[in-house]
Amino acid sequence: MDPPTLQAKAERLAATTFLGGRAEVFEAMGRLQLIALLRIGLYPESRVLDLGRGCLRGGYWLIHFLRPERYFDIEPNLEMLEVGKREILGPEALAEKRPRFLSNDQFDPSDFGVRFDFFLARSIWTHASREQIEQTLDAFLEFGTDDAVFLTSFLPAGAGEGDTSSGWVGRSHQSETPGTVRHDLRWIEEACRKRRITLREWVDPGEKQIWLLLAKGEATRPWQGHLARLVPELKRDRGARDSSGGALATVRSLLSRLKSRGQSQ
Ligand SMILES: C[S@@+](CC[C@H](N)C(=O)[O-])C[C@H]1O[C@@H](n2cnc3c(N)ncnc32)[C@H](O)[C@@H]1O
Repeated sequence: MDPPTLQAKAERLAATTFLGGRAEVFEAMGRLQLIALLRIGLYPESRVLDLGRGCLRGGYWLIHFLRPERYFDIEPNLEMLEVGKREILGPEALAEKRPRFLSNDQFDPSDFGVRFDFFLARSIWTHASREQIEQTLDAFLEFGTDDAVFLTSFLPAGAGEGDTSSGWVGRSHQSETPGTVRHDLRWIEEACRKRRITLREWVDPGEKQIWLLLAKGEATRPWQGHLARLVPELKRDRGARDSSGGALATVRSLLSRLKSRGQSQ
């Protein structure tokens, strides 16, 4: 008998474990994290830091693709860490690819002692406070290579309505209560600008979260525009839905303005 598919495993595990997102799209959403990174220049030799990797929803694909010891993650929820290793990845891939795991809730990768080509934070800024988002940006500045890129996702808030609470909102190593937060793109842009981080590209795949691509300073890479080509793929895979109404319309127009401002510079 064939081994269960990743999706079948996820649906079985979902009865007892929080998987980091909706079980119905576990496989699709994880696979898309790899596809998105491939679109923006991922190589087998790249070093990837997955911030808050949960149960290895994206890590499963990344670890299989990358060379040994090229996948790194930070996850404070030890139960999710173990389920991911044991049930999602399995002992063979673990032994062959030797992914590196750290557990802290400061988004602090210093113990790895390396710099990273790609930062990934999928469904992290959707729960993080401003202070935590700034921690991830600081980590990107300090531990990213000079031409590193940061792929992250967030939920847009209307102008001036972004979350200002402190600490994590939603399930984590400290809470079983679901929840999400929205952030004002203008605030995100300002936090990036202060650090000379450029918002290079964004995509709205029609699934509520908007993906942002950040790079250091004026770094240019041939991947410019590649992420946008992912949109039809994302829409096809997840079914286009636009249920975030006004906030999404606001963020779309703001992002378009940022884009045209970037192009005219
Ligand atoms: C919504 S899940 C997303 C997981 C994963 N990125 C994915 O796409 O499946 C959010 C994850 O962030 C983790 N997390 C919570 N607080 C964190 C912190 N301060 N630093 C790093 N990860 C954190 C949670 O434990 C959870 O695994």
